Amino acid sequence: MMSCQAWPEPIVRVQSLADSGLSSIPSRYIRPHSQRPSNTTSFKLSQTEHDHGHGRETRDHDHVNIPVIDLEHLFSEDEILREKIFRHVDEACREWGFFQVVNHGVSHELMKSSRELWREFFNQPLEVKEEYANSPTTYEGYGSRLGVQKGATLDWSDYFFLHYRPPSLRNQAKWLAFPQSFRKVIAEYGEEVESEVGACLRVNFYPKCPQPDLTFGLSPHSDPGGMTILLSDDFVSGLQVRRGDEWVIVKPVPNAFVINIGDQIQVLSNAIYKSVEHRVIVNSNKDRVSLALFYNPRSDLLIQPAKELVTEERPALYSPMTYDEYRLYIRLNGPCGKAQVESLAFQP
Ligand code: OGA
Ligand code: NI
Repeated sequence: MMSCQAWPEPIVRVQSLADSGLSSIPSRYIRPHSQRPSNTTSFKLSQTEHDHGHGRETRDHDHVNIPVIDLEHLFSEDEILREKIFRHVDEACREWGFFQVVNHGVSHELMKSSRELWREFFNQPLEVKEEYANSPTTYEGYGSRLGVQKGATLDWSDYFFLHYRPPSLRNQAKWLAFPQSFRKVIAEYGEEVESEVGACLRVNFYPKCPQPDLTFGLSPHSDPGGMTILLSDDFVSGLQVRRGDEWVIVKPVPNAFVINIGDQIQVLSNAIYKSVEHRVIVNSNKDRVSLALFYNPRSDLLIQPAKELVTEERPALYSPMTYDEYRLYIRLNGPCGKAQVESLAFQP
């Protein structure tokens, strides 16, 4: 097993590179030709059909959007209304692995202030941020790469990673150094949005990039955990979701969360729900902040296809594995499309 103690090369902050005003990006951020954003098609359709909130994709002018689901009646007395939402979520999970939710109950004010506070953090002087520098052992803190492969092509982004749960994984040092008011908002954001066993937050910062066609803000990957709740920038898009051989641009609905299924739910559901590959592109005139909250299973439990979903016609596709073992892969290798969950499936 590779060592996970230290980064293999000196860490360069992408934001510092962007702020230095360079006109071309260093070679370590440049993707081979075939993998560049511009050489992989983005999905566009000519239809102008509107199909809002029906679990199916939504379209506006010439773009296909991921489904938008209204959660207003999620806890309604009316069973028919509730069932309708469940059906939409089920459909979106089967068809897309991705959807946006509106009327989710989280205060819009809190969403906004969380994003703004994190933006303020990234706008602090470098020396301040370096006090939170992370290591690949836990990833907690201020980071600029995923994976420890020496010589790997890197993504055009920095991030801040925090554990909410379980409390034993929470590194107080990474929290305590923040101003009191900031700590309060981080904690409040966590309480409002999470209620699961394992929960951690990665705040992504994507600086402006002089050559956005040569690199990614975040390379294609599926999320390793259970489910992700993403607070995207309301105005700057960048997230793209794989749909067959094409990439669909997620157009953020203001005050919505983007929800997606991770690899653990693919395993639990015996691949009825599949985690879907996604990536982030950057742009030359606007930076972007996103808050990704990952819900994960307890890390020492064996995760395997639910018994109810395993039949003679549809045998278990995956062997049991703990999340502790599972996440080591992305921690070592960085984002690798869907290579990990696919490598786990039994060969037919
Ligand atoms: C992630 C992720 C998307 C985004 O953090 O895993 O996919 O838009 N983020 O930042
Ligand atoms: Ni992701």
